[in-house]
Amino acid sequence: MSDTRHPEEWQGIQEQMQQWRRDLHRLPELGLYVPETSLYVQSVLGELGVPFHTLLDGNAVVGLIEGAGPGKCIALRADMDGLPVRKETGLPFASTNGNMHACGHDGHMAMLLGAAAWLVTHRESFTGSIKLLFQPAEESPGGAKPMIEAGCLENPHVDAVFGLHAGAISTELPEETVGFRSGPLMAAVDKLQIVVQGKGGHAAYPQTTVDPITLAAELVLALQTLVSREKSPFDPLVLSITCINGGRGMNVIPDSVELLGTVRTMNPETRVWLARRIREVSEQLAASRGAAVEIKHDFIYPALFNDKSLTALAMAAARKVLGEQRVYELTEPVMGGEDFAFLAEAVPGVYAFQYSMASTDGEIYPHHTSRFDIDEASFSEGARLHVQVALDFLGAVDA
Ligand code: NI
Repeated sequence: MSDTRHPEEWQGIQEQMQQWRRDLHRLPELGLYVPETSLYVQSVLGELGVPFHTLLDGNAVVGLIEGAGPGKCIALRADMDGLPVRKETGLPFASTNGNMHACGHDGHMAMLLGAAAWLVTHRESFTGSIKLLFQPAEESPGGAKPMIEAGCLENPHVDAVFGLHAGAISTELPEETVGFRSGPLMAAVDKLQIVVQGKGGHAAYPQTTVDPITLAAELVLALQTLVSREKSPFDPLVLSITCINGGRGMNVIPDSVELLGTVRTMNPETRVWLARRIREVSEQLAASRGAAVEIKHDFIYPALFNDKSLTALAMAAARKVLGEQRVYELTEPVMGGEDFAFLAEAVPGVYAFQYSMASTDGEIYPHHTSRFDIDEASFSEGARLHVQVALDFLGAVDA
């Protein structure tokens, strides 16, 4: 009888996961180039006896655990990349390469390896197969899409995909819970660059110039009115101008000013509409001042939508692992982005948030900061959740 709740069986795996996380925490790598991380994951899979192959020049790893007979296939995904944040947690296993696992992806890898450790010794308890997706570049520029293009959802064809984010991605999520939401969960991410092209000159004679600074200031405020005056407050939409570059001296009006920012939406139509309106407003406002704009609007990640029936299945699985009280239904999506969205666009998917923050010097610090830390004690529950979702999806007879 295979029971994922056997505490003694998970105790050993918990200790291993802690060690894997600490080893991975020491070597955070960035973006699509994560060679040491990938080799580490490959070596653990090798020790566990899980067959795997690599994609993206060795920077992505796909493991496959086949059950007792033919059946469906579910993919479990962990992201692998760190961030260019200089670490200040003072942990004994802190990284020394100037980067940091400041979003908990080291924990994601450890938990998926832990799930693999359990699954590979219980192949008799399920039919079908479980694919393990170790993906680089979640933070930027995105690894899920190139992995899909490289065939990670085929051979065997993946029927569903599950992912779990550690830490505290949603501020709504109570401590000690795992949060789910059917439908939209995370926002589409766009990158916006606007170059305002004016005509520079002496600051004492502005009438001889086309001042891009005053125009850029007008533009920052005008773009906010697209959010506040042209769209329903019930259609989630965030536009943030985060960077203004222009000018070098107090008595010189520059030729141009560059604005950078990001746009977050849930509704794909709103996304397209906003890109069009940003262009129209910017071009018309610039033209009215005798200036011009160059706009680059990049659609980076789509919005992440959780499949309804898969969400129900995953929530039921979570109740088995955590108990009724610790499974939380999120009332709101979050405006952060996540390239798991590409996987959930290609096949039915469900992504969940596990609350697992640890304090540094008595305080909890948010994701992407130099004192962020996750609670290693949560790993066995996270790994068991991966396992239970997979078993329930495959219709395991004996779990
Ligand atoms: Ni993250």
